[in-house]
Parts: sequence; C-alpha cells; structure tokens
Amino acid sequence: MKKFSVVIAGGGSTFTPGIVMMLLDNQDRFPLRKLKLYDNDEERQRILGEALAILLKENAPDIEFSFTTDPEEAFTDTDFCMAHIRVGKYAMREQDEKIPLKYGVVGQETCGPGGIAYGLRSITGMMEIIDHMEKYSPQCWMLNYSNPASIVAEACRVMRPKAKVLNICDMPVGTLRRMSQIIGKTPKDLEVRYFGLNHFGWWTSVKDKEGKEYLEDIKAYVAEHGYLTQIEVDTQHTDPSWQDTHRKAKDLLAVNPRYLPNTYLKYYLYPDDVVAHANAAYTRANEVMDGREKTVFDAAKAIVAQGTAKGGEFHIDAHASFIVDLARAIAYNTHERMLMIVENQGAIANFPDDAMVEVPCIVGSHGVEPLAQGKIPVFEQTLMYQQLMVEKMVVEAYQEGSYQKLWQALTLSRTIPSAKVAKAILDDLIEANRGYWPELT
Ligand code: NAD
Ligand code: LMR
Repeated sequence: MKKFSVVIAGGGSTFTPGIVMMLLDNQDRFPLRKLKLYDNDEERQRILGEALAILLKENAPDIEFSFTTDPEEAFTDTDFCMAHIRVGKYAMREQDEKIPLKYGVVGQETCGPGGIAYGLRSITGMMEIIDHMEKYSPQCWMLNYSNPASIVAEACRVMRPKAKVLNICDMPVGTLRRMSQIIGKTPKDLEVRYFGLNHFGWWTSVKDKEGKEYLEDIKAYVAEHGYLTQIEVDTQHTDPSWQDTHRKAKDLLAVNPRYLPNTYLKYYLYPDDVVAHANAAYTRANEVMDGREKTVFDAAKAIVAQGTAKGGEFHIDAHASFIVDLARAIAYNTHERMLMIVENQGAIANFPDDAMVEVPCIVGSHGVEPLAQGKIPVFEQTLMYQQLMVEKMVVEAYQEGSYQKLWQALTLSRTIPSAKVAKAILDDLIEANRGYWPELT
C-alpha cells in the first residue's frame, strides 16, 4: 500500500494532537511515511511538536516526523496538507466575540460580524499557505477545515481558482452522529441529502442504506429535545455552550418544520435570544482558552517533562476521522459521499452558479462532484441569498480594500439591526484588527 506524506498547517492548533493520534489510529486505512507540522508561531509549534515527537517515537517510529516554521521544509515532498489555521489565534477570537456584544449584536466565531472579522484575517493566512503548497508541492491536495469556511471557500474560488483545495466542515459530521444515535444507527449506516451555505443549511433526507427514510423520526425527537442526545456521541461539541446550541435546534425546527436545521442557524434566526443569553465578559473564546487550549498545552508540557507520552495525556479525536475519509477518497478514488463546500454550478437548481454551497458530493481522485439537490423553497432560498451576498461582499471588500463594501456587507447581515450599528462595529473591528486586515479606504 502506498504511504503518504502529510503536513498539518496550523501545527500549533489545539486540534493537532487529537488529529495526529487519529491519523496513527488509521494507519491501516491511510498509511503515512512522513508527518510534518507547520505553524508560523514558533513557540506553539515547538511545545506541541516536542511532545508529539515523543509520542511518534513511541508509537510509530517508522513515520518520519518533524515540525517547523519554515514553509519550504514543511511543504516540500507533501501529498496532503491538512489545514486548520486560526489567524489571530484566540486573542482575536475574543475580540470578534466581544466587540459586537458591546452593541447588543451576536458575537460569534463564524457568524455575524465576528465571522466577518475572522474571515478577513483568514483570507491572508489561507492564501499564504496555498501559495506555499503550490510552490513546493504542486501535486499536493489541501484538505481545509479552517474557519470561517464559507468566506475562506469563496476567497479560494475567486483568488486561487485552480488551487487543489477541498473545503469541508466538521459540524454536519457531529450533528449526523447525534442523529444516528437518535435512531439507533451509526453515521456510516446513513446517507443524507442536504443543502445550504456553510454553517447555514438543512438536511432534507436521512436514509439508511436500504433506503428507509428517518427524517420524520428525527424531527419528532428534535421538536422535543433539539439535538441533545442521551450519550455524548459528538465528542467535539460537548461544553455547556454547545449543549445550549444543540437544544436550540428545537426552536429552529419550530420556525421551519420542513427540514432538519444546522445548529448555526440560531445566530441568524434567533439573534436576540443569543445575545440575551451571552455573557459579554466571558465568551466561547474564554471557555476554550480556559478549557481545551489549556488542557492540550498542559498535556504537551507534561509529556515533554516526563519524556514519555505513555501516561495518555493526549486524547484521540475520533470525530476528525472524516478528514481521513476525505484523504482516502482522493488517494484511493473511493467515491466517498461527503458534504463538501463547493461551487454550486446547478447543484441547487434555483441558486447562483457561482455560490459556494454545502451539498453532498462524490469524492474521488479527480476531486469533488456535487450531487443535484433540486430546487429549494423560497424561505431557505431568501435567507441563503442574503447570507451569500454578505460573504461575497466581504471577499470583494478584502480584494478592493473597500470600507464602503465592508460596511454594506455588515449592514446586510441578518445579525445586525441597522447601518448605524454596522458602522460602529466596523470601526471598532478595524481598530482591533490592525496588522491583520488589509487597509480599507
Ligand atoms: P488555535 O489557535 O489553537 O490553532 C491555530 C494555529 O494556527 C495557531 O497555532 C496559529 O499560530 C496557527 N496559524 C495562524 N495563522 C497561520 C498561518 N498563516 N500559517 C500557519 N499557521 C498559522 O485554533 P484551534 O481552535 O485549534 O482551531 C484551528 C482551526 O480549526 C480554526 O480555524 C477552527 O475554526 C478550525 N476547526 C477545526 C475543527 C476540526 O474538526 N478539526 C473543528 C472546529 C474548528
Ligand atoms: C467552537 O466554538 O466550538 C468551535 O470553534 C470549535 C471549538 O470547539 O472551538
């Protein structure tokens, strides 16, 4: 079996140890010859790199492991780049969440003004790593799950149209896990139909492999409990704030009982509730900094201090195995059916061809082929169109350095009540993002 060389971009990410352990656990399905970590933050990279070097030596000595901040070293002789960067790290996520809340507006990582701010930072970082990949390993595929995925995917479409980048999101994977528990199945038993933008979509069908439809059964459950399940099957989204989000799916279904909603729709359909329940002094960024970030970096330091990873401080991120499914689909032409973020080109019949949409696709060694989802109803179409224009205008504002366009994009967002509030938030975000955003005039 051919072995592959993988670089993880954002090697200093809180997700890196879990993903590395998941890759080790999948060696029978996706064998590695080389594993490299790349980050532009030397300290974060070193802490996790040194700990993972110990782990690899103990568990997979045949895999050539290294970590670096040098793009040439990172991207030379690489078959796949798994990208999970966070430009501005948690310090800037905190700003993205807290600035809008000052004005009574949703403060969230990927939705509303916070997502727009993060998007403008991510575009620069993503283009940078795509260019490294294309320069040093033109045959390489990038499997990107850096956020905010919608804006990143649109920027890739417009700014690097030929790049071998596949954009994917873990949220539908986590929610499908919950759905499968609700009906006593596993995610691999199920096949879905879905349409939307990233963090903005609906399941229209959830069938088992024999063709039995479960949409109504799952809806009946969600109408009562949201996506809260008895046993925690979606290990990625377990903190208290996430439990609120899963529960809120009940209200999302109430307003649109036709289909099963993506949980992120709560920021667009119930922004008032979200703001009312937010704590502007302690947001999700604080929760992660005090939780996952601290746990992961403390674990890495403990491994280095003990000189062994045998104490089990790092935990496998089994949830992330969808990334291996994706890599395998490309490597072995498996024709895996997966939800991907792709250029519409008719997949949603009554939606613009050049929209980056999230739909089921068949993935093979040639790339991604979207499956037709037909026409969508006016309610969903209208919401999506408005959000699509926000995302497109953000990318245009980035390219043109246009203050006016960015103000309009914010004004168009359903999360913001007026142009006046949009301007006030924008001016604060510009101040906070100096050095990260292009200059806007
Ligand atoms: P994090 O801040 O812990 O890690 C991100 C890393 O990216 C940092 O070490 C940072 O220095 C690095 N980075 C920033 N800009 C870079 C650049 N230009 N080049 C190289 N490295 C760069 O963040 P995190 O919480 O671990 O999340 C990482 C990303 O993964 C985010 O975009 C997040 O939204 C996304 N994400 C992934 C999953 C998943 O399934 N793995 C789930 C949720 C979110
Ligand atoms: C979130 O807010 O939960 C996502 O960024 C994923 C994570 O756990 O940080």
